Amino acid sequence: MEQSQGKLIVLEGIDGSGISTQTVRLKNFLETKYGLKVVLTKEPSDGPIGTIIRQILSGRVVGVSASSLALLFAADRLDHNNNKIKPALRQGDYVICDRYIWSSFAYQGMQNDISWIKEINKYAYKPDLTIFIKVRPETSLKRILGSRFQTEIFEKVEILEQVLANYIKIFTEWKDLGEEVRVINGEQEPNLVEMDIALAVEQFLQNNQLQRD
Ligand code: TYD
Repeated sequence: MEQSQGKLIVLEGIDGSGISTQTVRLKNFLETKYGLKVVLTKEPSDGPIGTIIRQILSGRVVGVSASSLALLFAADRLDHNNNKIKPALRQGDYVICDRYIWSSFAYQGMQNDISWIKEINKYAYKPDLTIFIKVRPETSLKRILGSRFQTEIFEKVEILEQVLANYIKIFTEWKDLGEEVRVINGEQEPNLVEMDIALAVEQFLQNNQLQRD
């Protein structure tokens, strides 16, 4: 599919890096400052496959292998592409997605061959811009434990160290291939993170010749 008028902006980071908060703020920024129509969405999606994935992540469904989980994420992504992302982009809307292919490389890449993860995700629509909110696992876990009682299967310091290392590796590789990936310091307070993200997105919009209202 050709890149259409709308753009797909993805936010990524380890658990507790503030992605969800920042997606909402970015949507607000793009709507108020640029008058864009923005669709906010996330992965795992709220579709049928995403619903199964959430049950696995919370531990309610057990016994699913790492490779089956990788396939579920890839299947959920294509379903999400076809039912939500591509229709919105075709209409000229902007789509902000809380996690995308990069999460599969970073998380499923821990227990699966990365070239296989790339293969099963090769039909996923390519993001136009990716924002990586970089936070240390110690910081992110402190935030997670401070905000809720239950944790999910990936929310452990040793695991998040590996996830972070995978993110850094994959983004270095993709940036070298000319992909639009911006790294933001997520250790700062949320308002400053928000400003840095807005700046990065503004730069991207200017490069794509979109003028402020
Ligand atoms: P998260 O984004 O924190 O959602 P919620 O706030 O609803 O818990 O959790 C999603 C988890 O799924 C997170 O630990 C990362 C993981 N994940 C993968 O392992 N692979 C993927 O491809 C995606 C999209 C997410």
